[in-house]
Amino acid sequence: PVASVLEFGGVKIGREDVVRDDPTNNVPDSIFSRLGMQLHRRDQHPIGILKNAIYEYFDTSYSNTFDKFDNLCPIVSVKQNFDDVLVPADHVSRSYNDTYYIDSQTVLRCHTSAHQAELLRKGHTHFLVTGDVYRRDSIDSTHYPVFHQMEGVRVFQPDEWEASGIDATSYAAEDLKKCLEGLARHLFGAVEMRWIDAYFPFTNPSFELEIYFKEKWLEVLGCGVMEQEILKRADRVNNVAWAFGLGLERLAMVLFDIPDIRLFWSNDERFTSQFSKGQLGIKFKPFSKYPPCYKDMSFWINESFTENNLCEIVRGVAGDLAEEVLLIDNFTNKKGMTSHCYRIAYRSMERSLTDEEINELQWNVRDQVQSKLKVVLR
Ligand code: PHE
Repeated sequence: PVASVLEFGGVKIGREDVVRDDPTNNVPDSIFSRLGMQLHRRDQHPIGILKNAIYEYFDTSYSNTFDKFDNLCPIVSVKQNFDDVLVPADHVSRSYNDTYYIDSQTVLRCHTSAHQAELLRKGHTHFLVTGDVYRRDSIDSTHYPVFHQMEGVRVFQPDEWEASGIDATSYAAEDLKKCLEGLARHLFGAVEMRWIDAYFPFTNPSFELEIYFKEKWLEVLGCGVMEQEILKRADRVNNVAWAFGLGLERLAMVLFDIPDIRLFWSNDERFTSQFSKGQLGIKFKPFSKYPPCYKDMSFWINESFTENNLCEIVRGVAGDLAEEVLLIDNFTNKKGMTSHCYRIAYRSMERSLTDEEINELQWNVRDQVQSKLKVVLR
């Protein structure tokens, strides 16, 4: 069952505004059902608790100067999501394989950067935007097609860097790193972190911050000094600014010891009851893990095959029972035909699954993979 009308700051949205029978629409019902869930606005939910903790850091460090937005509509124009932040016309993130399109000019935002330009134009100089973002992606314990980001932007006036004697860009970059390192310490206390040089179309220079978690470096945010062109279009030629975008799930998984990203969407009391408002330090106690069930599937791919399309079918059939989709074999024969073998892990976080129901899911997946992706099963 899917809510019929949603509302974002006065804008009413129905299913027919999102899921359309249109060749340019690639939004399935499983994604529409996540719209309006607003995990980031629940004070007892790990995502909401984390948002509030970050608010607290900014309120204290910058004496309440950051304006906060957490109810901007996730349906945005291609212009807002890409053009306004200088994403090149041929950038992969614009593809139907990576982004959910409602029609050729409208998408589900794939990042909170989609709101940078409009807020700058409205005159905001210090702001935080929190919201759900949507990306077609593979399936594993840290990826989910809907997740939450917080965007931060700070605009400087000429007198701020002039007094320092260093150039505007270096001044902003230094301030940015100090701010985010302070935030990491506020959230984690002592944690191992490192800065990586990065590329984003909307910032230069650009950086990524990684945090060491469970023997792996986890990318938690992207940031940089805002491209001057974005400021210029907002009539702010005399300013310099920084921006960051951080993934709330990634940070929350580390902070609360949450092992699987699907748990954030669980209504199971054994999950939800473990968190309370304002409590950042709580470590999640996993309830018993039910056994996984693995199913392999091999097929000859065609030119249009993508893993994201496969994963969308798996999610459409199995929903959150799909834990991982992994390519385990890949070869090309003498005739030039390429075969892929995928291993699908099914596991419920709430109960044991029966053989019958998994077999049924798997037959369903096989059916749809054949009919929708036009691949040849082996
Ligand atoms: N929008 C980027 C992303 O989603 C993150 C980012 C935001 C990077 C702002 C730089 C500045 O990956």
